[in-house]
Amino acid sequence: MATEYAKLIIDGKELQLPVITGTEGEKAIDIRSLRQTTGFITYDPGFGNTGSCKSDITFMDGEKGILRHRGIPIEELAEQSTFVETAYLIINGKLPSRQELITNSILLNDQSMVHEDMQIFYQNFPRLSHPMGILSAMVNALRSFYPELMQTDEDFQKVAIRLLSKVRTMAAMSYKISRGHKVIYPRADYTYCANFLNMMFDSPVNPYNPDDDVVAALNTFWILHADHEQNCSTMAVKTVGSAKANIYASISAGISALWGTLHGGANQKVIEMLTEIHNSGASIKDVVERAKRKDNPVRLMGFGHRVYKTYDPRAKIMKKVCDKVLPKLKVDDPLLDIAKQLEEAALSDSYFIDKNLYPNVDFYSGILLRAIGIPTNMFTVMFAIGRLPGWIAQWKENNDDPEQKIIRPRQIYMGETVTPYVPLSKRLE
Ligand code: CMC
Repeated sequence: MATEYAKLIIDGKELQLPVITGTEGEKAIDIRSLRQTTGFITYDPGFGNTGSCKSDITFMDGEKGILRHRGIPIEELAEQSTFVETAYLIINGKLPSRQELITNSILLNDQSMVHEDMQIFYQNFPRLSHPMGILSAMVNALRSFYPELMQTDEDFQKVAIRLLSKVRTMAAMSYKISRGHKVIYPRADYTYCANFLNMMFDSPVNPYNPDDDVVAALNTFWILHADHEQNCSTMAVKTVGSAKANIYASISAGISALWGTLHGGANQKVIEMLTEIHNSGASIKDVVERAKRKDNPVRLMGFGHRVYKTYDPRAKIMKKVCDKVLPKLKVDDPLLDIAKQLEEAALSDSYFIDKNLYPNVDFYSGILLRAIGIPTNMFTVMFAIGRLPGWIAQWKENNDDPEQKIIRPRQIYMGETVTPYVPLSKRLE
């Protein structure tokens, strides 16, 4: 029962709308009765002012630059946790015990192989296919390989583990196949991140030894991407899931949404932008000026965020990781210097200051991925693997929420009013 109400007067009618208060004090007006009682709907393109659900998973405060999963600050997870543990936290709502973590790792290993028939699919994608398109199609195809229904919580746990483990294998596999190289199988003696690196970079002629610092950096990278509440790809997953479509189809939709350059695809675009600056010798000042021009659709990639109106806490951590890992790997990347100069120039420019545009997670992440050896067209795939725990947890939460319905917003029709059909013979040329 609500204890607080907002008063709304429309057409002389007064309406008491319940106010919902979240555990961190966020307030929302519950407008579910609005259309039925007044005939009005709300108008909010991009849903910037719309709360689509109640959620226990992730808390963000965009003004203060706060991000927490299940209450735990992202800084603490990035510093002390592993991706596998954070994924468990996000999906199950609590940190695992030692035994739960061991069991979880065994299950991840058990599920790490990919059906050999899937390789045939891969081989038949055109050579220039983007890995995100392939990944989206392959995750959807998983349903055909694992058609059993998901009826119990145990079934859900199994599917969650399957997705976390197999998508990682599939990503590495698609890279190997795209290069025409032999696929490297997962190894039970490697941790989740080390296994991925090994599947990516090991070869019969050049054995790969996962380096501890690189493994740690990859853990951090994936932790930073693990969930981000109601972002575009998560909403895609939930929208598809709300129709009671299966989880593979739902996550495949999320992968497609993430591919977009305003969302996860920005990490690839940032590196392309920095490379272009490096190769062309363009001045930082000109690049900042170009990004501000209304007649030019090119934005400063890796800058700005719908929710964060201050520095993205993930970008802060990513920048620190770059500063630590690049020297350790003896990588001297000129793009890191360009990124820092660009950040400094933008953060002291009134356009970016007035609009609260700060670096987001994608600004420095590509530099880290490059240093690790990940090819640019795989960057968004790396984001997708990291975002899996969030998609899985949010899909489940939405599916289990008795207040949720099929996602189906309304519109305000602005087209022609009733117009008679004119047969072809009578239409003027
Ligand atoms: N460069 C230049 N101008 C910008 C930028 C940018 N990167 N971002 C926003 N603006 C301007 C925009 O032109 C608009 O100006 P005006 O009010 O004069 O029309 C104003 O700032 C507000 O922008 P918006 O597009 O209305 O804001 P939004 O909340 O709809 O968009 C965003 C958020 C992330 C799509 C946008 O900031 C952007 O396009 N950034 C570049 C792409 C990018 O880095 N995306 C990764 C996001 S973080 C990873 C993830 O979680 O997806």
